[in-house]
Amino acid sequence: MKILFYDAKKYDMESFDKELTNFPDITIEYLETDLNVQTAKLAAGYDGICGFVSSNLGRDVIYELADQGIRLILMRCAGYNNVDLEAAKERGITVFRVPGYSPEAVAEFAMGLALAVNRRLHKSYIKVRENNFSLTGLTGVTFFGKTAGIIGTGKIGAAMCRICHGMGMKVIAYDKYPNKALDFVEYRTFDEVLEQSDLISLHCPLMEENYHMINADTIQKMKDHVIFVNTSRGGLVNTEDLIQGIRSKKFFGVGLDVYEEETGNVFENREEDILEHSVVARLLSFPNVIVTSHQGFLTEEALASISKITLQNALDYQNGEGKPENIVS
Ligand code: NAI
Repeated sequence: MKILFYDAKKYDMESFDKELTNFPDITIEYLETDLNVQTAKLAAGYDGICGFVSSNLGRDVIYELADQGIRLILMRCAGYNNVDLEAAKERGITVFRVPGYSPEAVAEFAMGLALAVNRRLHKSYIKVRENNFSLTGLTGVTFFGKTAGIIGTGKIGAAMCRICHGMGMKVIAYDKYPNKALDFVEYRTFDEVLEQSDLISLHCPLMEENYHMINADTIQKMKDHVIFVNTSRGGLVNTEDLIQGIRSKKFFGVGLDVYEEETGNVFENREEDILEHSVVARLLSFPNVIVTSHQGFLTEEALASISKITLQNALDYQNGEGKPENIVS
C-alpha cells in the first residue's frame, strides 16, 4: 500500500517511520506541503492519502483526489470537521480517523492552560527573566472546592473530568449522551453549566449545530471572572464575542489551544510576519489570555499512538475491515 502524507512535520516522520517497521506492506511518501486542489493532483498512483486538522479537505479537493483514483483518506487526528464527508460519500471515498490516541494528553494540556492563565505563569515567567520579582498582578484563584464545567464528556472530556475531580473540584458537565462511567460528575443543561462553573472547558467536536456555541449570548450567562479554556476546535467560539467578553472583564483568564483563524498559523513559524488584522494579535494583547498552537495532542505517547492507529486503519481498509468508531464515512 502506498500512502501520500501531506503537511509532514519532523515529529510526524519520526513517529511514522518508527511504526512502519511493524507494517511492512505499507510505504509512505512525505510531502511538506498541505492539501489543496493543486497538490491533490500529486495523489495519482497512491492507494490513500493522510491528512491532518488543518488540511483542506473541502469538496473541490475531495473531488480532485477522487479523480486521481484516491478511495482512502486517513486522518491522523480525532476531529474531522475539515473533511466534506458528503463529497467523500458521493465519490466513494472512505475516511478514517484516530478517535482516542491519547485523551489524557489533551486533557492534561487543557488543565495546564487553565492553571497557567489562572496563576499567570505566562506573566511570571517573563517578569522574573527581566529581574522583576514583584508579585503584583499575579494573584490567582484556588481551584480546590470550585466548580469545573466540562462541555462534552467523550474521551478527552472524561479525562478532564477526572483531572478536575482529582484536584478537589466539583465537576458538572453537559453532553447529550452522559458518560455513565463518570459517577462523580453531575450532568446539567448547557445553560446551567455556563451559569454555575468557575472553570469551563470545551471538549466536544465541532459540528454544524454547535458552531459558535460560545457567543455573546452564552458568554453573558457565564459567571463573572470565569476561566475559559478551549482545546477542542476554534469554530466552537465566536472570537469577536469572546474578545468583547474579555474587554468587559467577564473572564478571569482565557486559554486557547485552538481558535478560528488558526489554519494559516498552525505549526508554522511566522516570527517575521506582521499580523495586521489578526485576531490572535488582538487576543495576545490581553494580559489574561494565553494562546497556543494546537499542541494539546503533542506528547511522545500520543504521536506513537497516532501513527500506529493510522497505519492499522490503512491495513484494515485493505482487508475490508475497520473499527466503526474509526470510520467516519
Ligand atoms: P469524543 O468523540 O470521544 O467525545 C466527544 C463528546 O462530545 C461526545 O461525548 C459527544 O456526545 C459530545 N458532544 C457532541 N456534541 C456536543 C454538544 N453540542 N455539546 C456537548 N457535547 C457534545 O471526542 P474526543 O476524543 O473527546 O475529542 C473531542 C474533541 O477534541 C475533538 O472533536 C477535537 O475537536 C478535539 N481535539 C483537540 C486536540 C488538540 O490537540 N487540541 C487533539 C484531539 C482532539
